[in-house]
Amino acid sequence: MTTLALAKGRLQDATLARLAQAGIVVSPEQLESRRLVLTDAAGEYRFLLVKPGDVPIYVEHGVAQAGVCGRDVLLETEPDVYEPLDLGFGVCRLVVAGYPNADWRQTNRLSKMRVATKYPNVTQRHFQTRATPVEIIPLTGSVELAPVLGLADCIVDIVETGQTLAENGLVMLEEIATVSARCIVNRAAFHLDRARITQLLKRLAPSNDQGDGP
Ligand code: PRP
Repeated sequence: MTTLALAKGRLQDATLARLAQAGIVVSPEQLESRRLVLTDAAGEYRFLLVKPGDVPIYVEHGVAQAGVCGRDVLLETEPDVYEPLDLGFGVCRLVVAGYPNADWRQTNRLSKMRVATKYPNVTQRHFQTRATPVEIIPLTGSVELAPVLGLADCIVDIVETGQTLAENGLVMLEEIATVSARCIVNRAAFHLDRARITQLLKRLAPSNDQGDGP
């Protein structure tokens, strides 16, 4: 059996839909249960449903041969895995956001700009490239609250529809990257089980585009 680590949350339904399109079907009974390890109807695949940030950990350590998570997670954690396939769904933007009049570009600030984020590494690298020292305030969710309550001057977060920003009076100030769901593969597993992994990638590809090959 091939084991896949799948991100719970915003990518879960689209991931299961893509698997179903590829003929890899998980029964509704399993999906409705609280089980964290699921199998497909044909008994070919085993799925681990884990937090998005944990997907690369399971894949890098070889517990799962492959996985599906957002590119935002990969940019943040830089795991040592192959990233052969852009699945094309879950498209979001990773952005700097804040109040429309935020003085985030000013270089003559007396204090470091405070940036709240779930992506401390991406944030650090981004502001380093513009030679702007920042104080990173790491949060694990509802990041938009931070500027609203004065905890931070701006945020770095993903934006999908833009609704959360708009409803909290915030705007996108700068785009850092476009992100979407990616299939990642354990390096050793790819070489040891190349035929099966290649077949899986072909089945999951949105078209015949296989992205950047490993
Ligand atoms: C993400 C992100 C934003 C929101 C953006 O959070 O961190 O808060 O979605 O989506 P939108 O542009 O469509 O409004 P998520 O829903 O994953 O929850 P979290 O804040 O608890 O991390």
